[in-house]
Amino acid sequence: MDVRRLRIETRIDHEAAEASLPLMRMGLGRAEYVFYLQRLQGMVAAWEDAAGSQAGRGTRPEWLRATVNLRQRRSFLEQDLVHFGQFNAEFQRPTLPEMHSTSSLLGAMYVMEGSTLGGQIIGRHVDRVLGLAGGKGSAYFHGHGELTGAMWKEFCGVLETRVPEAEGGAAVAAAKALFQVFSSWMQGGKP
Ligand code: HEM
Repeated sequence: MDVRRLRIETRIDHEAAEASLPLMRMGLGRAEYVFYLQRLQGMVAAWEDAAGSQAGRGTRPEWLRATVNLRQRRSFLEQDLVHFGQFNAEFQRPTLPEMHSTSSLLGAMYVMEGSTLGGQIIGRHVDRVLGLAGGKGSAYFHGHGELTGAMWKEFCGVLETRVPEAEGGAAVAAAKALFQVFSSWMQGGKP
């Protein structure tokens, strides 16, 4: 499928997701930042468990497992929470939409992978306003760092070669559904 279709059809959902994660303010405080890291912990754990178990099913191809496993970022969030002395192994998580096919799994994954792009901007901003450095406390947003662009391009290549045009609608529906879970989960309770 053409990645541009995902971008165009989820533009409005991206705006809502961006609004649900209001970290780009100069007045951002530490407690507020940690609150959002904790919400992200639930979201990312739910996503990585669901994606891992879907990709791990016997009927799914090996390349899919590798694509999912290489892109996990949960440990970065845990490091950040440890840095702030706020790591708790028990936390709530959202319920994710079903992903019945490889195309819908990849459509949902588009959301989490795309968030690494905005994450680069957020990482630089929170370092500045909260006085963080060396990725300590902002490892999740810095993510794969200078590899981010290349990994994103590679993932776009996966969408283009592995999602047949006819299944583009299923990928878009899965992306929209995951964006919506993300936004409502992040808004579920303010600090
Ligand atoms: C403050 C929050 C955010 C900012 C400032 C932001 C910013 C950006 C920017 C600048 C890009 C384009 C990068 C490029 O073309 O090189 C982008 C792409 C993207 N972002 Fe965000 N973002 C934010 C939050 C999110 C969240 C929370 C999600 C998902 C849960 C998300 C998902 C995506 C996706 C899927 C793309 C790829 C769009 C495409 O090119 O197809 N973003 N974001």
